[in-house]
Amino acid sequence: MRAERRGPVAIAITGASGALYAVRTIAALLAEGLQVDTIVTDYGRRLLRDELGDAAAAERLLPYLAAKYGEAVRAGTLTLHSNRDLGSALASGSRPCAGMAIVPCSMKTLAGVAHGLSRSLVERAADVMLKERRTLVVVPRETPMSLPQLRNMVLCAEAGAVVLPAMPAFYQQPASLDDLADFMAGKILTALGFEHQLYPAWTGAVDR
Ligand SMILES: Cc1cc2nc3c(=O)[nH]c(=O)nc-3n(C[C@H](O)[C@H](O)[C@H](O)COP(=O)(O)O)c2cc1C
Repeated sequence: MRAERRGPVAIAITGASGALYAVRTIAALLAEGLQVDTIVTDYGRRLLRDELGDAAAAERLLPYLAAKYGEAVRAGTLTLHSNRDLGSALASGSRPCAGMAIVPCSMKTLAGVAHGLSRSLVERAADVMLKERRTLVVVPRETPMSLPQLRNMVLCAEAGAVVLPAMPAFYQQPASLDDLADFMAGKILTALGFEHQLYPAWTGAVDR
């Protein structure tokens, strides 16, 4: 990992499918000893439990991550912020932050970020990243997409965000959902400026 990128990092989880991508990303950052600030929307909380089970509830995320990815995640610091607390440190540009990812990002939150609405801490923290010219990674998931949704992705990109759709690749020959999550988490870490070994780099050589 690059020294200037050693955190803290903000990860927002919203109510779009793909909770596994979020927990893999958080676990990888924690295992590097980083401070990770999380914000989970109401529907993000529902997604964590619906897709990963009750053990993955937002308040119990660290023990869940340690059980799934190993005790190495305890090298980092995980803090959960209320999405309703617009007075949180994350709502201010004066608080250092190496980058933020919204993973997965619902079409509702995408619209809020695209239009700078700052109605919740997720939207406000994202707005801060854009105004401070820091790295904001948005991981939208929906299919098919409406024209307003497509336009909102363009607005985010024009504002300086990295739009990184939840589109895992298959050229790594994934054998499990965890392999797909490793790929997406690796893409997110790269976009945030972190090195990782979550999946082998494509070399161009095909082994037959
Ligand atoms: C099980 C479930 C799956 C959902 N999947 C998606 C999805 O993939 N993409 C999306 O944009 N919204 C999805 N939604 C709808 C959002 O959760 C809903 O629009 C919500 O208001 C988003 O709010 P948030 O951005 O504050 O989390 C899903 C909802 C549920 C209950």
